Amino acid sequence: KIIYGPLISPLSKRDIRLSPCSLLSVSSCGVIEWAEHDVDPSSLQEVLAKHGRSLEDRDVEFIQLKWGEWIMPGFVDTHTHAPQFQNNGAGSQYELLDWLKYVTFPEEEKFADVQYAKKMYRRVVRASLDLGTTMCCWYGTLHLEGTKVLADITHELGQRAYVGKCNMDRNSSPTYQEASAEESIADTRSFISYVEALSPSDSTALVRPIITPRFAISCTSKLLTGLGELAAAHPQVPIQTHISENNAEIAYTKTLFPECSTYAEVYDHFGLLRENTILAHGVHLEKSELDLIKRRGAGLSHCPTSNFNLRSGSAHVGQWLDNGNKCGLGTDCSGGWTASMITAMQLASVCSKVVSFYTKGDDATLTGRFSKTQFAKYQLPIPTLFWIATMGGAEVCCLQDTIGSLEPGKQFDAVRVSILPETENMHLWYEESDSLESMLERFMTNGDERNVREVWVKGRKVGGRLFK
Ligand code: GUN
Ligand code: ZN
Repeated sequence: KIIYGPLISPLSKRDIRLSPCSLLSVSSCGVIEWAEHDVDPSSLQEVLAKHGRSLEDRDVEFIQLKWGEWIMPGFVDTHTHAPQFQNNGAGSQYELLDWLKYVTFPEEEKFADVQYAKKMYRRVVRASLDLGTTMCCWYGTLHLEGTKVLADITHELGQRAYVGKCNMDRNSSPTYQEASAEESIADTRSFISYVEALSPSDSTALVRPIITPRFAISCTSKLLTGLGELAAAHPQVPIQTHISENNAEIAYTKTLFPECSTYAEVYDHFGLLRENTILAHGVHLEKSELDLIKRRGAGLSHCPTSNFNLRSGSAHVGQWLDNGNKCGLGTDCSGGWTASMITAMQLASVCSKVVSFYTKGDDATLTGRFSKTQFAKYQLPIPTLFWIATMGGAEVCCLQDTIGSLEPGKQFDAVRVSILPETENMHLWYEESDSLESMLERFMTNGDERNVREVWVKGRKVGGRLFK
């Protein structure tokens, strides 16, 4: 297909491409073949001819966008929990450890029932896709069969995904805990084989398994040792877990692993901190932990919706970026109340404003927007918010060469956004004279799934308001 119209794509953490007239060619296997930016409408035929194409070509689907619409890379949700969607918006009066015990584990336990898993996961993946999330790092439950269902459904609906069977052999309830470390590891091994067989011998498979120790508190040393060995035997399989989310959690972790002086060292000790590790939250990480995480090349998933909702704290994302840590954005349902990456961007902005208020105390507005040297102590600039929701997430997933921006050679994981009146989002006004930059800012502040019109993964249309 060939798409013609406004395009927005990240260029760097500080810079963004805002092209009012781009031409983008996507091959039948979903790869961006070539892109031309700032094409004058009067020279459209000429530019197409340069690539051996014309508007009359019968084998080409020609998509023309209006002013008020644009294409941009799909969102990369670097951390969320599929079996918790039913709880979105509930339980916000608790903090993490009680919330897990009273709100979260009872809901996750229901996924022992495969029929329940089938019903719920279909809704969940559908909702995530329709919000423009083209790549998602999913936690399942500890159930092998139920989590296979989650992998099947992401595969069928066409979402790019890392899917993890959760490991936990202690500190939950007797009915929601694995019987032994051996069983947990055996199930994880068969889960990896199952997911890898969904797209046999395809190195660009959309759905892949991810090793998922829930967090250090839920796992005995024996289990973490076994998972470290499993990870070593499967270097290509990524790892996801939680880190340093809540103060009570950190204190408890330190009592369980007195041989490690920091939380990050626990994962490192068991061989679980490496380039393809995704660490969610990191609200209270110390500088030495950021340095260790950086040395290992692991990525951080900033989950502001959840961090505010469970009163976990405000992550110092500017400091992470200055320190050179990889950083993406996550929705963390149902710690967060919504799977919307748009909401996550809004709250990442608010979080950075809160942090800047307490760490600087004066007006960071202009400096924050234009400073070239530092992120910490300033609110995150709009290009940076956009970056962590797309390209930063791709880096965290080690998929930076495949997705995250709309550059030739990458796969076409993209969203068609519209803020035209026909979207019926009454909170998002549109003027012909608006610049693309101002449209993007207001979409990020007031947009929702009504503005997500079409969603493609690897060139296949998989969601959005106009999809059915
Ligand atoms: N830490 C351990 N499990 C969880 C979870 O399900 N959600 C969040 N936000 N933190 C966790
Ligand atoms: Zn989580």
